[in-house]
Amino acid sequence: MSKPLVVMLGGSGFVGRHLAPKLTAAGYRVRVPSRAPERAREVACVPGVEVVACKVHDPDALTPVLEGAQVAVNLVGILNERGRDGSGFRAAHVTLTASLIEACRRQHVPRLLQMSALNAGRGQSHYLRTRGEAEALVRQSGLRWSIFQPSVIFGRGDGLFQRFAALLRMTPVLPLACPGARFAPVYVGDVARAFVAALGTREHEGQTFELYGDRIMSLREIVEYTARQLGLRRLILPLPDPLARIQAAACDWIPGKPFSTDNYLSLQLDSVGGIDGLHRLGVSKTAVDAVVPQLLGRGTRQRLLDRNRQVR
Ligand SMILES: NC(=O)c1ccc[n+]([C@@H]2O[C@H](COP(=O)([O-])OP(=O)(O)OC[C@H]3O[C@@H](n4cnc5c(N)ncnc54)[C@H](OP(=O)(O)O)[C@@H]3O)[C@@H](O)[C@H]2O)c1
Repeated sequence: MSKPLVVMLGGSGFVGRHLAPKLTAAGYRVRVPSRAPERAREVACVPGVEVVACKVHDPDALTPVLEGAQVAVNLVGILNERGRDGSGFRAAHVTLTASLIEACRRQHVPRLLQMSALNAGRGQSHYLRTRGEAEALVRQSGLRWSIFQPSVIFGRGDGLFQRFAALLRMTPVLPLACPGARFAPVYVGDVARAFVAALGTREHEGQTFELYGDRIMSLREIVEYTARQLGLRRLILPLPDPLARIQAAACDWIPGKPFSTDNYLSLQLDSVGGIDGLHRLGVSKTAVDAVVPQLLGRGTRQRLLDRNRQVR
């Protein structure tokens, strides 16, 4: 009998690269539809994973990719959009989720794991609002769903410690907006184990799981911790709120948006969670200290390899 097939939308990204080997080790085949398969080289190298080119925003292109699947995983998400009116967030989070649900129905795919975020549906940001709208679609889908709401995720290839590490290496002074915003960083390996665990039993269906680590850190603590691990002495300048707003508004106009008004609005809510989804799924937590020092302290050669792997 052939192995059950998981189709993982957004599987070429940071989380997908860690989840794919866990799924294949658990006995699944994995198909990753990608808008740009040449950028999905790392996940394509995992035995048991196939990457297929797909214009994922076209429902007619998405449907055939789901053929033969028992599970759909939706990992697509964006932190910033090109414009500022929310339509980019809506397309990536809401419309794409609706298309995926429709494709699952057409192909009789019964099970959907939806990645979301802590605070989905709350606050003023387009990011969190559209996350909430997508969750509502999933809950009404009639599929056997589970929703995951992580805090910020850390691990090899993350956009947190490794992103700040890159910034800190470049500059002696770092102005920091929203320094008091609080997170409970969760390890990407634990997030991947949570997804696999959710597939293990029907009791996890129709459930929402908050995924967070055991240590609450403010943004300022995260940056200071990163600098310490790198052995760098840096001046971190916490920006008062009016200046943070101005910085965000200015960054709205920088290509690639390193920061944005929408990010600023998301950061007004602490991302710490309250009902321990990892515990409910039987996944023990990996501490920041168990991973990050090694991650940031890795030798120059490994850093070079990592950087080359990320070149797009
Ligand atoms: N990383 C975190 O700290 C964190 C925290 C909370 C929630 N999350 C959520 O977890 C999920 C996975 O996170 P991640 O860090 O792995 O994400 P990621 O690496 O930034 O992106 C995942 C993949 O999504 C696809 N994608 C990106 N923008 C898209 C768009 N506009 N339309 C269609 N596809 C698009 C890309 O695949 P292709 O280019 O191959 O098509 C990309 O490889 C996301 O939903 C994210 O919002 C992440």
